[in-house]
Amino acid sequence: MKNINPTQTTAWKKLEKHFNEVQQLQLKELFEKDPERASAFTIAWEDFYLDYSKNLITKETRDLLLELAEECELKSAIDSYFGGDAINQTENRAVLHTALRAPADVKITLEGENVVPEVQEVKEKIRKFSDKIISGEKKGFTGKAFTDVVNIGIGGSDLGPVMVTESLQFYQNHLKVHYVSNVDGDHVYEILKNLNPETTLFLVVSKTFTTQETLTNATTIRNWFRKTAPQEAVAEHFAAVSSNLKNVEEFGITIENVFPMWDWVGGRFSLWSAVGLSISLAVGYGNFEALLNGAHIMDEHFKTSDFKENIPVQLALLSIWYNNFYKAESEAVIPYTQYLHRLPAYLQQAIMESNGKSVDRNGEKVDYQTGTLIWGEPGTNSQHAFFQLIHQGTKLIPADFIGFKKSLHKDEDHHNKLMANFFAQTEALLQGKSKAEVKQELEAQGLSKDAVEKLLPFKEFDGNKPTNSLLINKLTPESLGKLIAMYEHKIFVQGVIWNIFSYDQWGVELGKQLASKILAEIESKSTDSHDSSTKNLLSFFLK
Ligand code: F6P
Repeated sequence: MKNINPTQTTAWKKLEKHFNEVQQLQLKELFEKDPERASAFTIAWEDFYLDYSKNLITKETRDLLLELAEECELKSAIDSYFGGDAINQTENRAVLHTALRAPADVKITLEGENVVPEVQEVKEKIRKFSDKIISGEKKGFTGKAFTDVVNIGIGGSDLGPVMVTESLQFYQNHLKVHYVSNVDGDHVYEILKNLNPETTLFLVVSKTFTTQETLTNATTIRNWFRKTAPQEAVAEHFAAVSSNLKNVEEFGITIENVFPMWDWVGGRFSLWSAVGLSISLAVGYGNFEALLNGAHIMDEHFKTSDFKENIPVQLALLSIWYNNFYKAESEAVIPYTQYLHRLPAYLQQAIMESNGKSVDRNGEKVDYQTGTLIWGEPGTNSQHAFFQLIHQGTKLIPADFIGFKKSLHKDEDHHNKLMANFFAQTEALLQGKSKAEVKQELEAQGLSKDAVEKLLPFKEFDGNKPTNSLLINKLTPESLGKLIAMYEHKIFVQGVIWNIFSYDQWGVELGKQLASKILAEIESKSTDSHDSSTKNLLSFFLK
């Protein structure tokens, strides 16, 4: 990957100058002046319809942002990404989660080896295993079919699978899938309360198989299981997904139930691998395959489309525009379907663990902003929670609105009301409400002149708040695969332009190291040297 400081490029300098010229622009006026604005800033692709016209940009902004992408050599970076180069340089690894969703007949070589056949082999293992559990052919230690599955994992070994399982609940079969992630015993014990060991399958999902939270939960669960089940039953009831076969075996899981993964799949991009086993169990292998296929279709779009028509590229550039020029600190993701309620949480790891970096690819501290804060909740609930701040607060918060043309439950009344809110909110954020409009409204209500004047400033909306509207035909495994891959590639583009390494996560290490040191102190009830705050807190805890 090239090492280009984005702020030293010609395009960046032009963008700075351009920003000074356009920052006072009013979206409302841009729409009034150009009746074609919406179509000029829309990408209709497959079952996706992205309207990004409600952004604080002109055609010149878009051109300059595209120039920035060119100057940062995005095209060759994409080739390195898909080509299996070790773009995760600080860990000397390729980033090839795209190979997990590639068709069986393509060749993707890594150090001279085609990785596709082994990917297919693991997929076949997932298919057979899922089929046997779902059909009841594979049974528990007392001869009963499985009814429940517990995924034990954290971070990428949890968030992706949970989000997808929740998103595809409509397609779910009879198996009840649970997720235990937190090392807090409240999590695991609450879930165990309602489970029958005879009919529950446990998946221990950990790429490294060294993660404290996962191993603690897996051990607690195995002990709970062994209270009623014989030792041999562990082999029937526990499966593992990991690249650390030695540790898996030591834990007592039979090799037949081990699903491998590879170091070229990063944790937060691993739901497409065997980490997605719980997804395949919940919705069946066919739907899991459709999810992968959707992601592959998005991969092809990203790899081959002109940048101007390229959804992930455009979304990434808009985000850079707000982050680095408008100095917006966060972005909201608002899915208009309850099914996607875990999408923002999933994206928090995907985006913030990837691009939360302050050192560039030279190892130098950056002097510009990188990763954005991500947050969100489904509409319409979020409208009744934090939308006030987006509408009338002091912060600029660009937001992605994600909606679906067709509902899955087919209740038109609900869906029309939901989508009316989707359209109304983005329009309200754009238009705002002027003093004159508020005045007219209050006068029509019969308020006195004095009362009108007093209320005016509070009821005025500036508007001019940027949003992307992504309308998708229907929430299916395939469209969900496209949506997730869209955000994955957006992350990549931003990392390339910010000149950072998006695929390591050294920042989570320090806390982990200190936690194990402090755990030893807690267990021995003797505290070591700490800052006075930590020392006092520990003493209070131990008293
Ligand atoms: O949070 C750090 C991290 O390394 C994530 O990147 C990863 O998804 C998670 O921990 C879990 O790791 P593992 O799958 O190895 O248990």
